[in-house]
Amino acid sequence: MLPQSTAVAPDASRATGGQEADAPPGQHDPGGYAAEIRECAPESWANTVRCAAGLAPGPSRPYQVEIHLASEKAHGCPQNCIDCVGQFLRGPGATPPQTYHRLLDDLAAMGVPSVNYSGIYTDPLQDEKLAIALLKRGSRRWGVRLHTLGWGLTNPLRDAIIEAALAGPDDYSYVTFSKATTDPRTYARMCRPRFVSSEGALRQEEANLLAFFRLAAANGFPLGVTVNCRITQINGSPQLIAELLRWFNDTPSGVRLRFTIDYLPTRSPAEYVRQFQDRLYVDSTQARRAIAEAIELSGFSALERIALRSVEPDSRYDGPTCHNRRLFAAISASGKVHPCQGIASPAFDALAYGDLRHERFPVIWERMSGVNYWQQPDPIDMGCPHCAAACEKHINTTIAIEAAKLAQSLATRGAGTLV
Ligand SMILES: C[S@@+](CC[C@H](N)C(=O)[O-])C[C@H]1O[C@@H](n2cnc3c(N)ncnc32)[C@H](O)[C@@H]1O
Ligand code: SF4
Ligand code: SF4
Repeated sequence: MLPQSTAVAPDASRATGGQEADAPPGQHDPGGYAAEIRECAPESWANTVRCAAGLAPGPSRPYQVEIHLASEKAHGCPQNCIDCVGQFLRGPGATPPQTYHRLLDDLAAMGVPSVNYSGIYTDPLQDEKLAIALLKRGSRRWGVRLHTLGWGLTNPLRDAIIEAALAGPDDYSYVTFSKATTDPRTYARMCRPRFVSSEGALRQEEANLLAFFRLAAANGFPLGVTVNCRITQINGSPQLIAELLRWFNDTPSGVRLRFTIDYLPTRSPAEYVRQFQDRLYVDSTQARRAIAEAIELSGFSALERIALRSVEPDSRYDGPTCHNRRLFAAISASGKVHPCQGIASPAFDALAYGDLRHERFPVIWERMSGVNYWQQPDPIDMGCPHCAAACEKHINTTIAIEAAKLAQSLATRGAGTLV
């Protein structure tokens, strides 16, 4: 879950209506991240704040669990994108399939409203058999919520995704595909495929994506489908963007294209800045101009199908307490349970609250968020590098402010009026 996006107007600078970044434009979360929490929460937002701040009992289950799928058979990511947010978080990690199956059963029994598959350094479709089995197992309850690149999208996976979306709740499922370019040399510089040639990987990606789009269209788009292109100095010239738009022009009209020009700093910001930032970052005005010029060059006219995700650079959350662990959980590739996706990596095993290979999720959740909450150290005390993702910072900051207001009101009016 990331910051907010805005639709791209003809001059690529007029913003029209914000929406949650990882939901497809206009469909799944028009009100932003807080709205999604509200929607998921059985309690009111105020109560969510209360329990996150420790002023009310913790929720009996997280509002969302994000899973980084990895098995012995296939793990990690087949690309090594130069701008990947997780590039310093890679580490060996694998979880037995039965652990995931047990986890889904536990999440279902707890009534967790949302499960998604993404990665901060992984791709969820690496183990085809595992991904299909889990999509099937969770489909009726959770549909499918997925962030992936295109070239693991085999025929059986395409079918499994559409079936899961059809079986899931209405207007709920989405898949977001990362796509940087249509040019093999640019692809080689930016995506850096690890096992096959860039030309081969790109051809495979495009063939798989087009086949998936056709299947989604034939089924009346039971899920939101977004192609996400992160704009950098490598792939961000008007000519290269125009080529991407020409390719996109041939996709069914239900598919959306999102340009991302805000970057999540990696968890090693100093290293990142030293190695990459100057060569990668694009100033937002320059990116908007390049997109506008590309629109002219390509003659692409279905502007309602394009969105731009852009937020002002923000300082990281630096509060004394992390509130996420009463609201969310993210599972690392090695089966560890963390309070957020930003640190759900084998590189941060020390910041986990439990290991699913040895304990069931409800036990770990209880420790992380419930009655044992006060006996557990805060992630920040355990050495968390603090939020870099705007969404997590937003949650922590909002809750800290609301908790302070509640505490004040409690002091003025007496505890009884608040509960
Ligand atoms: C890290 S990827 C993992 C899933 C899959 N491997 C992929 O690339 O789509 C999850 C999401 O983060 C986005 N992402 C990766 N690096 C980023 C960065 N530095 N800033 C913002 N978003 C980033 C990707 O485009 C993708 O939508
Ligand atoms: S495909 Fe996704 S996880 Fe893999 S390196 Fe690229 S952005 Fe990172
Ligand atoms: S403070 Fe740390 S653990 Fe808490 S949400 Fe931010 S990055 Fe995640």
